Amino acid sequence: SDDPAPGSTGATSGGDKGGNIKVGFSQLGAESGWRTANTESIKANLTAENGFDLTFVDAQQKQENQIKALRDFIDQDVDIIAFSPVIETGWDEVLQDIKDAEIPLVLVDRTVDTTVEDPYVTWIGADFTQEGRTAGEWVKKNHPDAKIFELQGTMGSGAQTNRQEGFREVIGDNVIGEASGNFTRAEGKAAVEGALAAYPDMDLIFAHNDDMGLGAVEALEAAGKKPGVDVKIVTVDGVRDGLQALHDGKFNYVVECNPAFGNQLADLLRSVKAGETVPKETIVIDEAFDQTITQEFIDARTF
Ligand code: AHR
Repeated sequence: SDDPAPGSTGATSGGDKGGNIKVGFSQLGAESGWRTANTESIKANLTAENGFDLTFVDAQQKQENQIKALRDFIDQDVDIIAFSPVIETGWDEVLQDIKDAEIPLVLVDRTVDTTVEDPYVTWIGADFTQEGRTAGEWVKKNHPDAKIFELQGTMGSGAQTNRQEGFREVIGDNVIGEASGNFTRAEGKAAVEGALAAYPDMDLIFAHNDDMGLGAVEALEAAGKKPGVDVKIVTVDGVRDGLQALHDGKFNYVVECNPAFGNQLADLLRSVKAGETVPKETIVIDEAFDQTITQEFIDARTF
């Protein structure tokens, strides 16, 4: 029908923008296999054929780049701004500007901590705290006396703070050391090289993502240790490389964080544009895997 959707301005969807929904997406970076898969899923679903006019900007893990992209989106007067914030704090001013510009904001994957009231319409992402708890429960059950090194993600990101919180809630004080590997393979490797010197008796690493776990594998092998045996490795994500390391016995347990939610995001964006009521949050469902995983399952994995 020609009737405007409830709550909409009454303008035709997209107006003079060819009918497509104009979305500005600020992705935080390309730091991990997870992020690459997430970007692919977003780009594959927010296509012109699906009714979107997407401007996608990669911030290379720098908050200042994200803030600049968000301001550009305001200037471009997009229909909706979507973004994955690299860290939780420091967004107050730009979030207020988005609000003042009356552009609906959709948060993707990570979360913000802000004084701005009601800054976003909806958020879609994983339950990071539960991922940390799931990892902790496996460790508590299978290696209750482990001397744990926690290889953390980007400090101050929702994925880091909440995974740490959930893990520690279950594990208590078995963590003998911690350092950040910024969610990348190279920094994960460097952090574990440091940990091998600082905590020679560590026998389990909880890495906040697969990539840092894979960096840990490299560091351990270079030091003549057997990953998965001498030092157990528990990670989060479940991208193909991580699951392969699990199958190969180098990882011991992987908690999934599913990046392939571009189709759910597309549905949310359509609803937001139509002025429909959307849930405040959509939690992406995660599984967990141990070494019984099959090669067949890994080969069929799309990310
Ligand atoms: O925010 C999700 C996390 O960010 C993923 O677990 C990690 O791989 C990515 O860098």
